[in-house]
Amino acid sequence: MKFFACALGWCIEWLQAYFLVLDDIMDDSHTRRGQPCWYRVEKVGMIAVNDGILLRNHIPRILKNHFRGKPYYVDLLDLFNEVEFQTASGQMIDLITTLEGEKDLSKYTLPVHRRIVQYKTAYYSFYLPVACALLMAGENLDNHALVKNVLVEMGIYFQVQDDYLDCFGDPEVIGKIGTDIEDFKCSWLVVQALERANSDQKKLLYENYGKKDKASVEQVKKLYHDLDLKCEKLIEFLLFLALLGCFC
Ligand code: IPE
Ligand code: MN
Ligand code: MN
Repeated sequence: MKFFACALGWCIEWLQAYFLVLDDIMDDSHTRRGQPCWYRVEKVGMIAVNDGILLRNHIPRILKNHFRGKPYYVDLLDLFNEVEFQTASGQMIDLITTLEGEKDLSKYTLPVHRRIVQYKTAYYSFYLPVACALLMAGENLDNHALVKNVLVEMGIYFQVQDDYLDCFGDPEVIGKIGTDIEDFKCSWLVVQALERANSDQKKLLYENYGKKDKASVEQVKKLYHDLDLKCEKLIEFLLFLALLGCFC
């Protein structure tokens, strides 16, 4: 039993590694887990795209090797396929909102943020591990819609935290340098800033958000400070802990 649980854990790790290798290329990121992003390593470059595909291919291979004879084999395959589709769809909406020519801060609202992070993060990082366990225990996933809803909610809070750390986290601690401001991402912080800003502050955001130069990024960070977004985040984080406590 423990061996099979570990094998499924590895499948989830391969899935995340695949997404992150490609995500770092698409986000023009610099570091990941305290090291240069894989595509930035000398002699790797765009070969990282194929490496990502190889990472992804470990999943059906592990499932075939160890789960072929199990009654829930088809459901596992279907689960991984479905979650991959949801994540890639989330990545697509995360990316197309930042396209040159489409850059429009006025479309960044909480429901838009919620939809992006629900798809790009919540399904694969929170729902998938529990769904694997349910399948191993012989459960039918259709009977656990409530479990899915709670896990998706947790996943959304997790990505709010990731958005916060992208701006305010210490790269030494989180292992990565944030790029959300430069990339014009629909981050939780910019959505909150837009809701709180007066007309002058909004003008400043419109002029500086999505620019690569350091001075513009600093202007945006200073505005976040001025709007007390640090405190707001703490409240969100406490809510997240409370949510966890609900069913521990
Ligand atoms: C990553 O989202 C989501 C996936 C890899 C599917 P982000 O781009 O916001 O995550 P980080 O901050 O680079 O880890
Ligand atoms: Mn990223
Ligand atoms: Mn991304």
